[in-house]
Amino acid sequence: MNFAARITGTGSAFPKNRVTNDDIVQKLAGLGVTTSDQWIRERTGICERRISDNGNPSEYNSSLGLSAAQNALEMAGKTADEINQIIYATCSPDTPLPSSACWLQHKINADNAWGMDINAACSGFIYGLSTAEKFIRTGQVKTALVVGAEVLNPIIDWEDRNSCILFGDGAGAVVVERVHSSSSHRIIDSRLRSDGHLWELLHIPAGGSNMELTPERYARKLNKIKMKGKEIFKIAVKTLCDFAQNLLRKNQLTPEDLDWFVPHQANRRIIEAVANRLQLPMEKVLVNVDRYGNTSSATIPTVLDEAIRDGRIKSGQTILLDAFGAGLTYGAMLIRW
Ligand code: UT7
Repeated sequence: MNFAARITGTGSAFPKNRVTNDDIVQKLAGLGVTTSDQWIRERTGICERRISDNGNPSEYNSSLGLSAAQNALEMAGKTADEINQIIYATCSPDTPLPSSACWLQHKINADNAWGMDINAACSGFIYGLSTAEKFIRTGQVKTALVVGAEVLNPIIDWEDRNSCILFGDGAGAVVVERVHSSSSHRIIDSRLRSDGHLWELLHIPAGGSNMELTPERYARKLNKIKMKGKEIFKIAVKTLCDFAQNLLRKNQLTPEDLDWFVPHQANRRIIEAVANRLQLPMEKVLVNVDRYGNTSSATIPTVLDEAIRDGRIKSGQTILLDAFGAGLTYGAMLIRW
């Protein structure tokens, strides 16, 4: 049994509501907080993001995940009953229970699958894809669906200008299938790590079992994202570079061998700094942070889907995915498309 895993379909979905920087400037002004389109563009590269209508069931996290999954299945030429496994990466599920994977299974009728969630924040999609790849390689799963989806707006503190300008909602999905290990089109390798000592840099204090959400804690916004942006920025640049270089070296490759670099879309300045350190021209770097902001686990599958659908990514090309996120978590993956 010599199996490998290959991505055969990709898809994405976003909420309808397009929120520009000027919309945010106005929203924050109403709360007595100052920001500007110029500051957001210059410091983050973000021009707009999509925000879900939380009262609309078609824009729930699992509904965006469903649309993305349907698009990916269509590209792969697969039906939902052919899926054996659903891995759903999210830190903003519809409900604490059941899992988003089960919500998606219910909505898409993937009756021959089992599913689970992965919460590795912005690294979640790479964690999920790496997990699916192991199940496929060991022969336990033939076809997997890996989703990265977020509806972050309810956990954003709209009075914290340091963080609220960054995030957006959206979903990306891929279908992963078993191929023979001699296939050149496959997931080549991945590298995962986390550093729980750095939990405080990006966390939500309340709403879990150690700090139940009470009206007083709600009023203090303890159910919202607390972020130390400057510290994360420095660590992100260093670890994204280290992870990329390590994984390339382990596979006897150099940045020059890459056709595409697909970093987590947190801030265009982080992406440019990493590309610069890896000596990769920006023409080889996929970017959608300008239009969607930071959609956490959805950034990598959505930007990948975009470049596959518009023909930039071509058969046989070598692609490096690279992410970091709350935890802190880190992950990189090499793919031959
Ligand atoms: O998926 C992982 C999630 N998180 C990240 O990746 C975050 C990574 N970090 C970042 O993206 C950046 O650090 C931020 C965008 C969060 C902040 O950018 P920065 O260039 O590191 O700004 P800074 O924190 O050094 O702040 C510079 C100034 C400060 O004013 P003073 O103290 O110099 O007067 C801030 O108060 O900019 C001010 N500032 C703002 N001004 C206008 C911070 N946020 C804003 C804002 N509008 N939205």
